[in-house]
Order: sequence, then structure tokens, then C-alpha cells
Amino acid sequence: MKHILLAALAFSFIACQSKEEILHEQYVIEGRVQYENNCANCHQSNGLGLRNLYPAITKSKIPANDLAKLIKQGRKSASGYMPANPKLHAIDIAEIITFMRHEWGNNEQIFSFDSTRIALKGVD
Ligand code: HEC
Repeated sequence: MKHILLAALAFSFIACQSKEEILHEQYVIEGRVQYENNCANCHQSNGLGLRNLYPAITKSKIPANDLAKLIKQGRKSASGYMPANPKLHAIDIAEIITFMRHEWGNNEQIFSFDSTRIALKGVD
């Protein structure tokens, strides 16, 4: 009886996940993979960067729109060079930003595909 109850509880929990929550989970999972493939070399998996070569990004206050552009276009400044990512599509970038918010921003809001496309207008 206890097992049946537990199973029913577990099922109702899964069934209660809203479409939005499932989408968020997909973004975070995909975003983690994209982050590992495209960003972790420099900023490391934990986002803490590499000595004074690459900055920690866990506390970066860069707005999501600007981050989308930075990922796409890269940046060269006195403090270092971040390469552009011309091959990343808006959906990849949306997922990376959503992953970063989740991981370091304590922010469970999706940065959507549409928002990313708007942010990249004229850049993409
Ligand atoms: C080759 C190394 C390298 C890679 C790969 C790289 N970055 Fe960077 N990143 C840098 C450097 C260097 C800076 C500092 C640039 C500056 O000071 O202008 C930086 C800065 C940043 C910042 C801080 C921006 C701010 O203004 O606070 C964020 C956030 C960031 N990168 C995210 C990413 C993401 C996401 C990826 C993957 C898509 C990525 N980086 C890939 C080297 C890298």
C-alpha cells in the first residue's frame, strides 16, 4: 500500500510539472552542454575563470541582451580577448544564458529564443 501511494505521489509530481518548467529544464540541460563546449575552456565549468587570464563570470552583472551580443560577437579590450561565436545560433545562446542564470544567478526565468533573436537583431 505504501509503495502504491509513493508511486502515485511521484506520478502526480511529474504530471504537475508545467510545460514552462519542462521547457526551462530542457534549456538548462542543453545550455550546460553548450557552455561546456564553448565557454568552459576559458571560464571553467564552475564559472570562476582562470587566474588573471580569464575573468570569473559567476557575479557578472551584464544584462542578458548584452550577453547575447557578447557571445555572438566576442570582445577585445584592454583586459583581454573573448572570441566571437559566429556558429552559435540564437537558440544555443538562449540556452547558454538560461543555464548561466540558473547556475549562478539564482534566476529560474528562461531567456527565450525570441528575446535572443531580438537582442541579436542586426548582429546575427
Ligand atoms: C578564449 C577564451 C574565452 C572563451 C572561450 C569565452 N570567453 Fe567569455 N571572456 C573572455 C575574456 C578574456 C573576457 C573579458 C573580456 C573583457 O574584459 O572585455 C570574457 C568576458 C566574459 C563575460 C563578462 C562580461 C561582463 O561584462 O561582465 C561573460 C559573462 C562571458 N565572458 C561569458 C562567456 C560565455 C557565455 C562564453 C561561451 C559562449 C564565453 N564567455 C567564452 C574569454 C573567453
